[in-house]
Amino acid sequence: MNMEPAGSFVADEDLVPPRFRPRINEEEAYGIEELFFSRTDERGVIQSYNDTFERIAGFNPGELLGAPHKLVRHSDVPKAVFWLLWNGLKSGVPVGAYVKNRTKSGKYYWVYAVASPITGGFLSVRMKPSSDLFAQVQQLYDAALQDEADLNLSPEDSAHRLLEKLQGLGFPSYAMFQAHAFYTEFEARREVLDRPKDSVVACVDVITSNTEVFQRELAMLARKFDQAVLLITNMEIVANKQQAGQSVLREIARNYSLKMRGIEAHLETVRVAETYEGIWGVSRDQNSYFLLCAAQLMEDMNAQFEDQARQVEGVSKEQDTGFLHGLLNDYKAQSVSAVMQSVEAALAIKTNTEFLRQLILTLSNIRIACRVEMARLTDTVGGLGEILTSLDTFHSEVDAHLSNILGAADEIVKGVDQSMNGSEAVF
Ligand SMILES: Cc1cc2nc3c(=O)[nH]c(=O)nc-3n(C[C@H](O)[C@H](O)[C@H](O)COP(=O)(O)O)c2cc1C
Repeated sequence: MNMEPAGSFVADEDLVPPRFRPRINEEEAYGIEELFFSRTDERGVIQSYNDTFERIAGFNPGELLGAPHKLVRHSDVPKAVFWLLWNGLKSGVPVGAYVKNRTKSGKYYWVYAVASPITGGFLSVRMKPSSDLFAQVQQLYDAALQDEADLNLSPEDSAHRLLEKLQGLGFPSYAMFQAHAFYTEFEARREVLDRPKDSVVACVDVITSNTEVFQRELAMLARKFDQAVLLITNMEIVANKQQAGQSVLREIARNYSLKMRGIEAHLETVRVAETYEGIWGVSRDQNSYFLLCAAQLMEDMNAQFEDQARQVEGVSKEQDTGFLHGLLNDYKAQSVSAVMQSVEAALAIKTNTEFLRQLILTLSNIRIACRVEMARLTDTVGGLGEILTSLDTFHSEVDAHLSNILGAADEIVKGVDQSMNGSEAVF
């Protein structure tokens, strides 16, 4: 199967390769509610498209059919972007990207494109970008273009350079960036169009904000334990300096130390462990955002199909709406299952945190035993009082962190339950 992008399209004069055609630095305006649709074969040759695409790109009826999608290629888009697009599509994942396109007359228009693999090819739905992020991305593209020219970079090398820049901006992979960008653009457009927020997106919002709570609280908990280990070591040193007759204190310190290490090991079980690697590695929540926005975009596209007179000869509207339905159902199903996994993960964190709390209670009891023993001793034990006071603080702080973790787990379960049951479910 030839999966290489089509490269040798020859057509009439109007369709000469973009780099040989004049460019006009003028934007072709279109409404934020408008969506572009196109479907291609495996090489990127257009098999179907909608009125909006034809009208904005300025082609005559039927002209786009059978043309390679690079017909609208604008030279301001770095090669890196198309390398990433094809790399993702060939890996079987949907790809989102900002793309500047060129109209037949040489003007330009920007889109946020979401291309998905489908049987026999690919399908792309594009919307108008309008967020603040869009302006930043244009700067990023300008820099990438400059690098490509100055350093004579291959598309792949340029893509890796772009990925490094995205990492510098806090996106560990392209998939993490595209999810953030798509969500940002989708929400910006939704607000302009004054449409309600999707209930599952609201679930993911609750999950992401509370996952941040988990991460923050766990990091602080781990730090508190590191500090407490030092305290216990000091406690053991102090206890070991005591007379042989005061061995109870030594025993208490030893016991405290042992329990503490056991608890530290258990802390690992509460951790929110997620690993993702490579260009397409993505966290569960970010992937849900991407898929949910994609599902809604497909739904919107379908609705626009209903309103548009199709004029592509020989292409049935039903075939395209069938592809869109297939994708939207798949994306919805994947994201609902991801939400359910997050609820399960929150419940597991809750169980492990409650167990951790019990373990810490036994540690707290040893601290009380130590206080009692210290009061019983006739000689003052140098430094032990201060250590115990610090341990008191440690225990109350740890308890507050554990409460916050349990609270966040409850918020996830409650928030998802409310969002899923409180509104007209889309599933
Ligand atoms: C579904 C789909 C949609 C595409 N949409 C666009 C597009 O809107 N603009 C564009 O320049 N390239 C688009 N491409 C990529 C083109 O096929 C091509 O790779 C790109 O224009 C770069 O061409 P070049 O490498 O010959 O410069 C799309 C490809 C696919 C599979």
